[in-house]
Amino acid sequence: MHLPPSPRTPGTIQLLRWIFTPMSYMDECASAYGDIYSLNIRPDYPTVLISNPDALQTILTSDTKELSSPGELNQIFTPILGTQSLITASGKQHSRKRQLVMPALHGERMRAYADIIYQVTDEVISTLEIGARFSIRSVTQTITLKIIMQAVFGLYDSPRARELEQVLKTILDSTSSPVSLAAAAFPIFGKILGSLDPAHDFDTLLQQTNKIIYEEIQERRSNLDFEKRVDILSLLMLARDEDGQAMTDVELRDELMTLLTAGHETTATALAWAVYFIYKNENVKTKLLSELNSLGNNPDSNTVFKLPYLTAVCNETLRIYPVGLLTFPRRVEKAMSLCGYNLESGTLVYGSIYDTHHRQDLYANPNQFKPERFLERQYSAYEFLPFGGGARRCIGLAFAQFEMKLVLARILTSVQLELVTKTKVSPKRRGLVSAPNRPIYMKKLS
Ligand code: HEM
Repeated sequence: MHLPPSPRTPGTIQLLRWIFTPMSYMDECASAYGDIYSLNIRPDYPTVLISNPDALQTILTSDTKELSSPGELNQIFTPILGTQSLITASGKQHSRKRQLVMPALHGERMRAYADIIYQVTDEVISTLEIGARFSIRSVTQTITLKIIMQAVFGLYDSPRARELEQVLKTILDSTSSPVSLAAAAFPIFGKILGSLDPAHDFDTLLQQTNKIIYEEIQERRSNLDFEKRVDILSLLMLARDEDGQAMTDVELRDELMTLLTAGHETTATALAWAVYFIYKNENVKTKLLSELNSLGNNPDSNTVFKLPYLTAVCNETLRIYPVGLLTFPRRVEKAMSLCGYNLESGTLVYGSIYDTHHRQDLYANPNQFKPERFLERQYSAYEFLPFGGGARRCIGLAFAQFEMKLVLARILTSVQLELVTKTKVSPKRRGLVSAPNRPIYMKKLS
């Protein structure tokens, strides 16, 4: 098979660089090979990364007979999410799950979360002491976790919710280190590390999490008032498939776990980067404040959502340091040509979100934070794709953007913050996504 060009280093070295220094490795490969290259990032399939917008459109919109995206390719998520999650499901089952979950994260249902987004943001920032430094990512993670708990369970302030919040944070922190990913990729390394592997407590933590989620499901099943509730768990419990069957407890657990994890870590990181860039660039902060202040007191959440400069700031944040570096993979089912290369069936193709967002021909000075570029030009769905695209496009896209804008608007207009960290902060791997490579410290002035 004649694959697109690849670094000449042995496969194991490629995999280690991908695990430990993914962004700089992608920068090097994109500048050496351009639109398309092969990289040894999985042991099971030949793997290709692309960043050419036309080719991205082809892979993300292709018929499933040519390029499929079965859940089995996302097996790396199975230990946490199980086999019945949106991310690990395939075909009809996948589309059905999307149809079930979609309404809860869009339209009127989504806009109904505005009050809770403001309320949670106010509560969390009111706990910060004036003059004391804090890590902005920890704060945004607390905010986004409480918000998604509310959307999923309709409750974020019960003892069970607090216990779940704590154990979820611990489990995600324990699996976020590249060392844990390396231990998973090379089991022998995991054995040598033993209890030094940050994820060595994983099984115990997972059992704790499952116990809490199953207890909540059981309680609702025995208390039929859940039918009156509008949270995602109640919605999923009421849903029936074509044969009139309800979701099993395992299906419910896997879906909840998916939404709880995918639905807060990503947005927390995006928000932390946004705050960092806003407070690092005085002119951005000034423009944003003037746009927000022009709305007067208590503006409608939809008006905030549509603000052009706030939208540009969020887009530029998701462009420069996309939280998801790649789309989920597509598998070539019928040999095809892409960017001048013949890809045989069985090849995996990933859309490289990071490389696309750093193309010089689309984004002049790609490492510069410049929201104005989104006001000067309209980017297509294959030039700017922080949420991926096609059949597996992020189901939380609208929810995440709504949440980001409302939380930022609230922070900017209700407290005065100062950026304490003056040294350069860069992105690094955090589990399967990216995050700041060091804590970004801020201080509340008033
Ligand atoms: C800034 C925040 C977020 C970013 C950058 C992000 C990014 C992504 C990306 C890149 C994908 C893969 C898409 C593809 O392969 O085409 C994805 C999938 C997914 N995201 Fe998000 N996401 C965010 C927030 C959320 C939220 C808030 C939720 C849920 C409430 C969520 C739930 C999911 C799920 C369930 C999938 C899998 C969809 C499927 O397989 O059909 N995400 N996300």
